[in-house]
Amino acid sequence: MAGYRLLMLPGDGIGPEVMAEVARVIGWFRESRGIEFTITEDLIGGAAYDAHGTPLHDDTLQRAREADAILLGAAGAPAYDKLDFSVKPERGLLKLRKELDLYANLRPAICFDALADFSSLKREVVAGLDVMIVRELTSGVYFGEPRGISPDNEGGRVGVNTQRYTTHEIRRVARTAFELARRRSGRVCSMEKANVMESGVLWREEVQWVGDNEYPDIELSHMYADAGAMQLVRWPRQFDVIVTDNLFGDILSDAAAMLSGSLGMLPSASLGAPGEKGRPNALYEPVHGSAPDITGQGKANPCASILSFAMALRYSFDLGEEADRLEAAVENTLADGVRTPDLLQTEGVQPATTAEMGDAILAHLQQSL
Ligand code: IPM
Ligand code: MG
Repeated sequence: MAGYRLLMLPGDGIGPEVMAEVARVIGWFRESRGIEFTITEDLIGGAAYDAHGTPLHDDTLQRAREADAILLGAAGAPAYDKLDFSVKPERGLLKLRKELDLYANLRPAICFDALADFSSLKREVVAGLDVMIVRELTSGVYFGEPRGISPDNEGGRVGVNTQRYTTHEIRRVARTAFELARRRSGRVCSMEKANVMESGVLWREEVQWVGDNEYPDIELSHMYADAGAMQLVRWPRQFDVIVTDNLFGDILSDAAAMLSGSLGMLPSASLGAPGEKGRPNALYEPVHGSAPDITGQGKANPCASILSFAMALRYSFDLGEEADRLEAAVENTLADGVRTPDLLQTEGVQPATTAEMGDAILAHLQQSL
C-alpha cells in the first residue's frame, strides 16, 4: 500500500504549535494502528508570504492537489494587516478553498459533557448538543464580482462586494447537508435572508427543490439567518443539520463554537466533489484562527486540530472506528480535567500546556488498544 498522503500546512500564529500535536497523533496511528500516513509539510499564509512573497505558492497548490488530505493550522497575523488584500495571509486559505473547489464546509458543534459548564450558556441549554453546520465555502460575497474600493463622485470612496449564488452552487451544498442528515436525525434547517436578498430567495427555493425532489424523507425547514442566530443561542438542540451560505456560515459557526465551551474545541472539514481519487479533495482545519495574543506560549488548545484530524479519518479515509477512538481519547482527556487555559475556570488549578494536552490524549489512545 502506498499509504495516505497528508499535506500539513501549519501556517501562522498558534498553527505550528497545535499542528505539532497533530503530527504526534498521526505518528501514533502509524505505529500503533499500522495506518500508512506520509506527511509533507509546506507553508501557507504569512509564513509563505515571508518566504515567497505570496500567501500560497504555486508549488504548494500543486502539492495540495496531489494530497489525499490537507491539514491546516491557521493563516493570519497582525504583522500582515497592512498588506494589500491580494497577498494577505487569509488569501492563501481562500485561494486553496477556491482552487480545490472545497464547497462544503462541515463545522460540527458538539458539547462534550465535561465542558458543559464552560459554555457561556447554561448547562441545561448545551449539554448533549450535537449540531452540524454546513457552510457553503467557495462562492457568495467572499468571491462575488464586482468587488473593490474605488472613488465615488462625491469626493469620497465606495466599497463594493457582491453576493452571488447559482442554482448549481446551492443545490450541491444542499445535497451535502441532506446526505449528512440522513446519517443523523434526519432534519435540515436552511438559513438565508430571503426577506431582503434575491440571492436569499433563490437559496430558499433551490434548497426546497432538492428537498422535494431528492430527499423527501428529510424534514426541511427554513429560517432567516438573524432569527437562526437567535435560536442558536436560545435553544440550540432544536437543530440537527444547518445549511447556509459562506458569510452567514462564517458568523453562525463562530457563535456555535461558544456553545461547545471554547473556540479551541471546534474542528472543520472542507470537502469538494468526489474526485478521480475516489475521495473528495479535502482540507481539515480548526475553526479558531491564529490567536496572536497567545502565540508561542504553549497555551493553545490542540483539541480543535486533533478533532479535525479525526474528521479526516472519517471523511477522507473511511476509518470511522479510528475517528471514534480519537474523539473518545479527547473526550476522556477532558473528563480527566486536563485543560488548556481557554478551558480553565478553576482558581488555583495549574493549566496544561499544549504539549501536555497532547501527552494526555496520546495516553488515552494507548489505553484504547
Ligand atoms: C474561517 C475564517 C476565515 C473565513 C478567514 C480566516 C478567511 O474566519 O474559516 O471561519 O472568514 O472564512
Ligand atoms: Mg470564521
